[in-house]
Amino acid sequence: MSVASAPPTRLIAFSSGKGGVGKTFLSLNVAAALAMSGRSVLLFDGDLGLANVHVLLGMQPKLDLSDALAGRCTIGQTLLDGPSGVKVLPGASGNRGMAELTTSEMTQVIQAIDGLTPAPDYMLIDTGAGIGTQVTTLARLADSIVVVVRDEPASLADAYGLIKVMHQDFGSRNIDIVVNDAADVKRGEAVYHRLSQVATQFLGLPLTLAGVVPHENATVTATRRRETLLTAAPHSAAAIAIRQIAARLETSRAGSSGPRFLVDRLGPAERTDAT
Ligand SMILES: Nc1ncnc2c1ncn2[C@@H]1O[C@H](COP(=O)(O)OP(=O)(O)OP(=O)(O)O)[C@@H](O)[C@H]1O
Ligand SMILES: [Mg+2]
Repeated sequence: MSVASAPPTRLIAFSSGKGGVGKTFLSLNVAAALAMSGRSVLLFDGDLGLANVHVLLGMQPKLDLSDALAGRCTIGQTLLDGPSGVKVLPGASGNRGMAELTTSEMTQVIQAIDGLTPAPDYMLIDTGAGIGTQVTTLARLADSIVVVVRDEPASLADAYGLIKVMHQDFGSRNIDIVVNDAADVKRGEAVYHRLSQVATQFLGLPLTLAGVVPHENATVTATRRRETLLTAAPHSAAAIAIRQIAARLETSRAGSSGPRFLVDRLGPAERTDAT
C-alpha cells in the first residue's frame, strides 16, 4: 500500500474484558479531549444492543445504527452532535437483535462506517465488555486497543483474557493500558506493571501505559449534568489525566497503519460473507 493511500482516520477501540470499569466514561472523555485540541472525532457506541453513550449525554436519537442497518436511513443521518464537537454514532438501546448481529450484519455495519464522509481524524469505539464476537470484531479493526482496567483481580484477569484473545487470535499488537478509578497514581502504575509483566512473559507482548485515571467524585455531577468530566470539572486530577491520555495517544503512534477500508481489516471469511 502506498503512503498516499494511507487511511486518514486513526481508529482506537476502548475495551476491557470485565464490564463496568469505565470504557464509556473514558472513550467519551478522551474523544472530547481530542476534539478540544482541534481534531475531528467520531465516537462510535459499539455496545450495539445496550448502547448508552447517548444516555450519558441525555440525547434521544431519533435514528440509530439499527435503522441504518434496516435501510431506513443512511449511517450519516444517525450521527448526533456530541460535546465539544464530537460526533456520536449511536448504537441501539435494549435491542436484542443488535446485540446478536450475524457476522455478515457486522460486516455491513463496518462497510457503512467505511462510507462515512468526511472521514474524521479519529474514530473511538466503545466496544462494550467481554470477548464475544462483536467486541473482537470491532477491536480487531482498531489501530490500537485501549484496554481499561481497575485495580481488582477480576478486572485484571479479564483484561489479560481479552489481550490474549486479541493478540493470539487476531494478531493485535498495539495495546495501551488505562488504569481507571485508581486510588492513586502509584497504585495504578503497579497494576499496569503487573499486567504488562504477565503479557510479556506469556504472550511475548509488552503493553504500553496510556495513563492512570484516579477515582473522581465529580463524575457523578458530570453524569447528572449530562456533561463530560472535562467541562464539569476541568481541573480535577481525572480530567488532567484524561487530557494527558489523549495527548499520549496523539503522539505515540500518529496516523493509521491498517488498510484504508475497515472492511479490508476483517478476515477473508467475513469479507466473503458480505458479498
Ligand atoms: N475515574 C472514575 N472515578 C469515579 N467514577 C468513575 C470513574 N470512571 C468511571 N466511573 C463511573 O463508573 C461507572 C461505570 O463506568 P462506565 O459506564 O464508563 O463503565 P463501562 O466499562 O462502560 O461499563 P459497561 O461494561 O457496562 O459498558 C459509571 O457510573 C462512571 O461514571
Ligand atoms: Mg459502557
